[in-house]
Amino acid sequence: MFSKVAMGSVKNSSMIRKMFEEGEKLSKLYGEENVFDFSIGNPYKEPPMAVKNRIKELVDEPGIHRYMPNAGFPDVREKIASHVSKTLDFDLSFKNIIMSSGAAGGLNVVFKSLLNEGEEVITFAPYFVEYGFYAKNHGGILKVIDTTDNDFMPDKNKLKEALTDKTKIVLINSPNNPSGALYTRETLRGLAEVLEEFEKATGNKVFLVSDEPYAEIVYDGHEVPNILGIYKNSIIVTSFSKSLGLAGQRIGYVAVNPNIEDADLLMDIMTFSTRTLGFVSASALWQKAVGDCIDELVDIEDYKEKRDILCNHLSSLGFKVRKPEGTFYLFPKSPLEDDNEFVKLALKHNILVVPGSGFGVPGYFRVSYCVPTEKVNKSLKAWESLAKEVFSILNK
Ligand SMILES: Cc1ncc(COP(=O)(O)O)c(C=O)c1O
Repeated sequence: MFSKVAMGSVKNSSMIRKMFEEGEKLSKLYGEENVFDFSIGNPYKEPPMAVKNRIKELVDEPGIHRYMPNAGFPDVREKIASHVSKTLDFDLSFKNIIMSSGAAGGLNVVFKSLLNEGEEVITFAPYFVEYGFYAKNHGGILKVIDTTDNDFMPDKNKLKEALTDKTKIVLINSPNNPSGALYTRETLRGLAEVLEEFEKATGNKVFLVSDEPYAEIVYDGHEVPNILGIYKNSIIVTSFSKSLGLAGQRIGYVAVNPNIEDADLLMDIMTFSTRTLGFVSASALWQKAVGDCIDELVDIEDYKEKRDILCNHLSSLGFKVRKPEGTFYLFPKSPLEDDNEFVKLALKHNILVVPGSGFGVPGYFRVSYCVPTEKVNKSLKAWESLAKEVFSILNK
């Protein structure tokens, strides 16, 4: 009766939702204050005051609630272009920017604009599970390369082996959800070299799409390398969901490398895709607000404090966890081979986490620490009792 593809996808896509429902159940049983929900990547902090104040003023601005060009307000695109140019030390104009409904909307616009039926999108696991659905939306096929044996860094040799005449996009996400790993410049340069050699040998252009909604959530002086300066056929997709805590407002943008052959045509196609996917444009109010508050940022130090508390605590308890350079996730190895079993065991201690299988790598689990610090501190005892139980099972 309904779409078979959509019905199949719904069946297989409810891992995080399931954890959310478990959390609700536990909260009712034990009280919300005694449940430690580390399952959802929903920024809990309020957006900066400047953003809130600006949006209040904008509501009353004459004409603000009307349609505008599908790619977004030219003045906002100009502000974003000049911000990106400054941050990345790379010249962009408003013609290279298109406003989007978050990073998710941006990725769908890019995929619709690049993919032909049956073409492949290569990504690296662990990865954001929606990628598979986005590729499918536009006739694409997601191909996944594992990185767990390489400290979560993509391996250029594995990319070389995976390329076929159907490859159209290599999709990267750094800092990465869920590993928190920041891909190094050397790693990205390696990927670019492989793609350049591939184009030389076959004539096939492969686009490197960099999904960067966590680009500003990086610690210890790290910076996200500028992919536009590393590879010609590159596109950045990003949003203000995390950097300004605006996940519910659906605002982001796509930055297209001006050196792509026929970049202007690609912009026309992406503008058309924005229109015909039904976004029409990104939200008018929020375009203006982010354009005016482009230098604002949520409190990164607060996230860093939580990363350090949890990472140190889990390590001291015997969990194997890599200290992430960015995002608000930890991705420890599951002490039990079956990550789903481990997640079930964690529930017994009122801790909610997501199994690594949900990100294409069984044997790990994701801890999302965008929760209040008091909650993190209160959870430490629960982690201790969980560790005691799981490691005693292993020592039997
Ligand atoms: C890796 C990754 N890409 C894209 C998105 C979607 O971001 P947005 O809410 O800006 O659409 C998310 C959201 O969590 C994400 O983790």
